[in-house]
Amino acid sequence: MRRKIVAGNWKMNGSKGLSEKLVGYVQAEAGSLDNGVEVVIIPPAIYIRDVLDQADGAISVGVQNVGQWQSGAYTGEISSEMAKDSGCKYVLVGHSERRQIFGETDELVAEKVALIVASGLAAIVCVGETLEERESGLAESVVASQVRLGLSAVSGEWKSIVVAYEPVWAIGTGKTATAEDAQAMHASIRSVLKGMGAPAEEISLLYGGSVKADNAAALFSEPDIDGGLIGGASLVAEEFISICRYFPASS
Ligand code: 13P
Repeated sequence: MRRKIVAGNWKMNGSKGLSEKLVGYVQAEAGSLDNGVEVVIIPPAIYIRDVLDQADGAISVGVQNVGQWQSGAYTGEISSEMAKDSGCKYVLVGHSERRQIFGETDELVAEKVALIVASGLAAIVCVGETLEERESGLAESVVASQVRLGLSAVSGEWKSIVVAYEPVWAIGTGKTATAEDAQAMHASIRSVLKGMGAPAEEISLLYGGSVKADNAAALFSEPDIDGGLIGGASLVAEEFISICRYFPASS
């Protein structure tokens, strides 16, 4: 059975105060969710301890990025082992902001994925096309290539892999993929995974890109959408927990 996951990526937002206030609220509400959703918070690394102190078991915690080395003279970087040691369960990798602003390539994503799974953490591997690629009819092939290359180092550790489809044009823009388009891409990703020899039916596929309380229900009712990766709306406690609630209890 694949897991249902709603993960909040705070990006470079938040504060110690928000970590205490928001996580306390989300933690209390997450405990009463009856739809089997795993609630994950992915704060800036410097607040992971504050989030974990509030989380108290009902919430999992992730880190937004790790370096591609195990340790050493890499000022400013943190490793997968450190993330594990600090109590994280998930690592976000290949987010389009990392790809576009920091020049991360599929090859680098693959190196990081290998270290993440080797350290016993789960990787949430982000893929997604730009508007130009979608308008040129290249969306599926671009995403398929990101999946194949980014996961090229995975052999037996598929249980540690989650894929997040985040069309770049939908991130922070208020434009969401329609539930039908998102479902079509998720089905395509699942078939790419199958082609790679992965247990595709067991791998959770999340949708990200302007997910809000008013569009989550439609997205989450699609058969291949196993949850969401939420940016802006994860910084508002009530909105974030509302999104977690929209998962149908039966699926
Ligand atoms: P928004 O929900 O703000 O569009 O961000 C999505 C995202 O990038 C999550 O990783």
